[in-house]
Amino acid sequence: MAFLHRQSPFCVFVIALTFLVLLTSPASSLDCSSQKFANNLYANCTDLPTLKSSLHWIYISKTSSLSIAFIAPPPKPDGWIAWAINPTQTGMAGSQALIAFKDANGSMTVKKYNISSYSSIVEGEISFEVPESRAEYSGGSMKIFATVKLPETMTEVNHVWQVGGLVTEGRPTKHEFQPANLKAVGKLHLKLAEKEQNNSTTAGSPIVSPISSPSPSTSSASCNTKMYVYFMLIIGALISN
Ligand SMILES: *[C@@H]1O[C@H](CO)[C@@H](O)[C@H](O)[C@H]1NC(C)=O
Ligand SMILES: *[C@@H]1O[C@H](CO)[C@@H](O)[C@H](O)[C@H]1NC(C)=O
Ligand SMILES: *[C@@H]1O[C@H](CO)[C@@H](O)[C@H](O)[C@H]1NC(C)=O
Ligand SMILES: *[C@@H]1O[C@H](CO)[C@@H](O)[C@H](O)[C@H]1NC(C)=O
Ligand SMILES: *[C@@H]1O[C@H](CO)[C@@H](O)[C@H](O)[C@H]1NC(C)=O
Repeated sequence: MAFLHRQSPFCVFVIALTFLVLLTSPASSLDCSSQKFANNLYANCTDLPTLKSSLHWIYISKTSSLSIAFIAPPPKPDGWIAWAINPTQTGMAGSQALIAFKDANGSMTVKKYNISSYSSIVEGEISFEVPESRAEYSGGSMKIFATVKLPETMTEVNHVWQVGGLVTEGRPTKHEFQPANLKAVGKLHLKLAEKEQNNSTTAGSPIVSPISSPSPSTSSASCNTKMYVYFMLIIGALISN
């Protein structure tokens, strides 16, 4: 008994830790029906087939803008989530990504990445105008809210999503290569939704958050170069594994 008694603080610690992990582990269900937004901003929602994620969205044809709320649990609280449009093909290569993660002071940030190939992931400008973007973290999941202006002729969108567990020095690093990660691609049909939205008075962006998002950092050319080198190193490390 003395032995047990001596051990009990440790046991209590382990049990407490277990509860903590259970409490803070990513919510198992982030499907469309479980998520509500003020004013029902997003008429459409798609339960994404992988990574426990969902995409709430609305396409306003008048302004050819797509507003989205992408919700996913990162593998770790300090990880990242990403949602991207690929204007030229399906999959990651060529995609124009929005990646959300906690920046140095702990507040959520959204940055834009031009992923022109697996070896070139550059923070900075992407081929779409993004008038608004912000991110939230709560209950183990991250949310990206963004409005993207699309070419008027675009009727469907190849999109890609992803999660990763690590951000190093303000840079999201490699994600897992499990089937769920690799199958995270899909297509949105915008014009199906358009009919219903034609009468919508929600011109422009439906994002009406009182929370002002931190303005995305304007990265210098040298920063982009560093990013490039950095990701090259990661890709190199991945390949050599
Ligand atoms: C993205 O990167 C590719 C390859 O470097 C480049 O051709 C393209 O212009 C870039 N897009 C933007 C919007 O900067
Ligand atoms: C989007 O939502 C509207 C209204 O609920 C619906 O009629 C339309 O079919 C949806 N579009 C897609 C692509 O799901
Ligand atoms: C939407 O409304 C415009 C007029 O504002 C009309 O020309 C167009 O045909 C409508 N589109 C659909 C799909 O109903
Ligand atoms: C708006 O919807 C009504 C029916 O609900 C329809 O009669 C009207 O033509 C629509 N307006 C436009 C601009 O499409
Ligand atoms: C965190 O830093 C960003 C700039 O990088 C700033 O806009 C934001 O207000 C800061 N947040 C807090 C909570 O200090």
